[in-house]
Amino acid sequence: MKPIRTQVAIVGAGPAGLMLSQLLQLEGIDSIVLERQSRHETESALKAGVLEQGTVDLLNEIGAGERMMKEGQRQESIVLRVEGHDVRIDLAALTGGGAVRSYAQRDVIKDLLRLRWAKGGDIRFNANVVNIRDYDTRLPKIRYRDRQDEVHEIHCDFIAGSDGTRGVCRRSVPAGVMKSVEQLYPYAWFGILYKAPRLSHELIYAAHTRGFALVSTQSRDLQRLFFQCSPTERIEDWSDDRIWSELRTRLAPADDWLPEQPQIIDRTVVGMRSLVVEPMQYGRLFLAGDAAHVVPPTGAKGLNLAAADARLLARALTRHYRDGRDDLLEAYSSTALRRVRRMAGFAGWMTSLLHRAPDSDDQDYRRQLTALRSRLGEPELAAMLADHYVGRAES
Ligand code: DHB
Repeated sequence: MKPIRTQVAIVGAGPAGLMLSQLLQLEGIDSIVLERQSRHETESALKAGVLEQGTVDLLNEIGAGERMMKEGQRQESIVLRVEGHDVRIDLAALTGGGAVRSYAQRDVIKDLLRLRWAKGGDIRFNANVVNIRDYDTRLPKIRYRDRQDEVHEIHCDFIAGSDGTRGVCRRSVPAGVMKSVEQLYPYAWFGILYKAPRLSHELIYAAHTRGFALVSTQSRDLQRLFFQCSPTERIEDWSDDRIWSELRTRLAPADDWLPEQPQIIDRTVVGMRSLVVEPMQYGRLFLAGDAAHVVPPTGAKGLNLAAADARLLARALTRHYRDGRDDLLEAYSSTALRRVRRMAGFAGWMTSLLHRAPDSDDQDYRRQLTALRSRLGEPELAAMLADHYVGRAES
């Protein structure tokens, strides 16, 4: 077997891996991306699509932003609805012009793939990594099996592990080298997808005595709604009528505002946890995105953290190749983790703020919601929320 040589082997064709390979190519650094899933699966993952300004800028800088700027929608405010009372968080006013853009992760992936192919990028789908090794030497190696069951070996200078929570990269590091801190939440999200125009120009985060609900969007004609449920909720226990009625109640008072029960085309239960791995590096293996950290979905930080990792890692690798200096590589983990911790803290805070603990008492929870309404009127709290939401928080 003749080994394949590249400078950076990237495991995982999610946002972190694809952004990294594009950033590296712009600096003349060669990479190969290995992806376990098929191209179709890679392009169809349904995930949140709220892009911070920094992520929007990055996609534009690397040449992957054209469709996002056309089809995505700039969001200058969000709504927090507390038992029917709306508090508008004016992101632009509170952050001096900051905003987010709604554009589905699935579309970000499609745009990145198209760009990588146009630039001659080497992306190998259906590539099952068998092992990664020697990343504590100057010549790390990855062995993978292709769809025809043929085994190949890649020799490289560095490995970027952007292969998600269950990926092989983190798992192949010797026990005890990386410490992970995990937190499970006692609730989950029941999510539906349906075809219709946008319900609302703003994302709506609703806190209600029956639990949290969220009005989000996937694209111009595909909408997403969520409501808090138990982590053991069974999808088959929810008829369409029951789903719509639950959403109507929690998203009140606008009870004439939900569309005539359009056909639901996808339903899922999304578990919630938070996981931070430290350090995000071992030898010449560098973790990026979900492989290193998972945050609860409230606030939609996952893709944005992946983009921030890709940018940092690309900068550090560029310094290595261009200037022969490893200072940024050495600092990668601690620099990335500063932002990760801040955003994980924010996502956890926003989650507890808006969700109802399963064991809470009705009266107590009602009082809590009343208190929440008045807290949201405090300028400091609104400013803190807006700063983190648009990704402005110091890193
Ligand atoms: C989604 C949207 C959000 O605003 C958020 O905070 C979490 C998830 C979504 O569409 O999945």
